[in-house]
Amino acid sequence: MKIRMNDNYRLLEKNYLFSEVARRVACYREAHPEARVLRLSVGDVTLPLPTVVTRAMAAAVEEMASEETFRGYAPEAGYDFLLEAIRSYYLRFGVELATSEIFASDGAKSDVANLSELFGQNLVAIPDPVYPVYLDSNRMLGREVVFVPATEENDYLPGPVALEDALGHAVEGAIIYLCSPNNPTGAVYGRAGLAAWVDFARATGSLIIFDSAYEAFITGDFPHSIFEIEGAEECAIEVASLSKTAGFTGTRCSWTVVPEGLEAEGLSLNEMWLRRQTTKFNGVPYVVQRGAEAALSDEGIAECRELVAYYRENAQIIASTLEERGVAFTGGTQSPYLWLTCPGGLGSWEFFDLLLEKAQVVGTPGAGFGSFGEGHFRLTSFGSRETTIEACERLRCIL
Ligand code: MLT
Repeated sequence: MKIRMNDNYRLLEKNYLFSEVARRVACYREAHPEARVLRLSVGDVTLPLPTVVTRAMAAAVEEMASEETFRGYAPEAGYDFLLEAIRSYYLRFGVELATSEIFASDGAKSDVANLSELFGQNLVAIPDPVYPVYLDSNRMLGREVVFVPATEENDYLPGPVALEDALGHAVEGAIIYLCSPNNPTGAVYGRAGLAAWVDFARATGSLIIFDSAYEAFITGDFPHSIFEIEGAEECAIEVASLSKTAGFTGTRCSWTVVPEGLEAEGLSLNEMWLRRQTTKFNGVPYVVQRGAEAALSDEGIAECRELVAYYRENAQIIASTLEERGVAFTGGTQSPYLWLTCPGGLGSWEFFDLLLEKAQVVGTPGAGFGSFGEGHFRLTSFGSRETTIEACERLRCIL
């Protein structure tokens, strides 16, 4: 062919992190067909959907079977019943949104990646380590990226000073990605930490893209939404998801909040996102939206809390194993992820190979989340109880 290609793809790792993990596991399985491999790697849930959700979805399926209640294309940003349910969910955190600021979607991953289309060539600030989609989606568009180190020294919660230090000069008009509770470290920003970012973004004309996918794991007095922080509506977009909250990893429903007042160069971000979504996305299926509405009802939230409590107990089981074996780690309390320092000074992928070969346990190498993740490793508490206990027994034998 003689077509021109997007050269930015040359800058990417050959495989997306979790695809690379899956590829290596598949190779191992091929060579050891008898091995029983246990996965504590990708953050995929194992418990079934809450009953209130499946009941609502079953009723919606029935509606689709009758001419009177059948639905075709959904309203582009979501049915009113879902947008209202999301709006009420935010009221629990004291955040008042207009439904016109909420856009239902099929996943936080796609939204967080697609949002980068709205912007021109700005400086992009990405914590390191962090969810790889932020970096890869910006690299695909040839964006200049500065990494903000999230290390033990700053409790894995870098602030604006860390960004300015990394950049070596003052910031103006940057796109700043934040994820709290953090994937992969499990660190969670307090109000003061988030307020520092909001103040900084306002002072420098920057925009924060806040990923709250893990907010349901918060137990203490930490913000669930960036809009709990004064002034955030002037400088932030939030991406949220039911994947980890309500077990929707395979069902797919998320949302993005784009405040009405956000604008730059005379363009409204809310209008742009609506334009983008209406052009490139046909909405979340009706049946799924009914399930999502149910997940956000009082009964749904109560059932979701039980799911989260189960994964939290898994995290405790993993944490006590690591403590017992003297492995340094963080996370696992406000988050489903435990972030450990690879024992014996091993590199992330070396430790990955060791665990796979000696214990047939799969985790995620910290280096896949950024260069500051090297020498670290992530374990997830999203496995079944049985898998978690057995994986811990195996870890005990080799650590
Ligand atoms: C993870 O393991 O980091 C997440 O499951 C990835 C995702 O949510 O896309």
